[in-house]
Amino acid sequence: MERFLPFSGPAGKLTVLSMLALLNILSAPLGHSQENPIYLWCSGNTNYTAGSEYKANLDLLLGNLSAVPASAGRGHFRNASIADWTNPNAVYGLVQCRGDVLAADCASCLNRSASAAVLRCPLRRRAAVRFDYCLLRFSDQKFFGNMDDTERSSLVNSNGAPDRWRSTTG
Ligand SMILES: *[C@@H]1O[C@H](CO)[C@@H](O)[C@H](O)[C@H]1NC(C)=O
Ligand SMILES: *[C@@H]1O[C@H](CO)[C@@H](O)[C@H](O)[C@H]1NC(C)=O
Ligand SMILES: *[C@@H]1O[C@H](CO)[C@@H](O)[C@H](O)[C@H]1NC(C)=O
Ligand SMILES: *[C@@H]1O[C@H](CO)[C@@H](O)[C@H](O)[C@H]1NC(C)=O
Repeated sequence: MERFLPFSGPAGKLTVLSMLALLNILSAPLGHSQENPIYLWCSGNTNYTAGSEYKANLDLLLGNLSAVPASAGRGHFRNASIADWTNPNAVYGLVQCRGDVLAADCASCLNRSASAAVLRCPLRRRAAVRFDYCLLRFSDQKFFGNMDDTERSSLVNSNGAPDRWRSTTG
């Protein structure tokens, strides 16, 4: 853990602990349950049908992407595809866990995300889902490395925060 810090020793450990405590304080008031995604996006110009080759490929992809090796470090990331672009039933996907999230929590978050995406975006060929710990996206288009700002969302901390500006400027 120390190798991520500019300094090591007890002071470094203390900093990590306080940062984790701060993260807990910051994320707790948002009140996101582990059952409901923070963000959900269902899309696609056409839908797939139950029992189709696309659905079979999607299941393969989701199973593959949600399998996180125990050796994965914090902030696990992976992209994958099933079939190549010449196949109309190709599916592309990527997953990423938050930078402080360990492999085991990452795995359970991705497992939940895979189920949520299919359940909450029924028959959709494209979807993205974000829980507190991880995000997952799949599509029938190869979107890797392409900037995409068509979907935007913001998160508001409804508990507010101390008014630092006022207290430091008088
Ligand atoms: C796809 O299915 C959703 C319901 O899951 C429906 O709302 C949507 O209209 C369908 N889209 C098309 C293009 O058929
Ligand atoms: C999620 O976990 C359950 C229980 O371990 C498993 O049956 C299911 O296949 C997993 N889902 C995915 C997409 O890996
Ligand atoms: C996922 O796909 C990759 C690349 O094809 C493969 O190396 C890996 O074994 C697969 N993992 C699982 C759990 O299916
Ligand atoms: C992952 O994305 C990179 C580009 O961002 C791409 O070159 C690579 O083919 C992708 N991997 C898979 C398995 O699709």
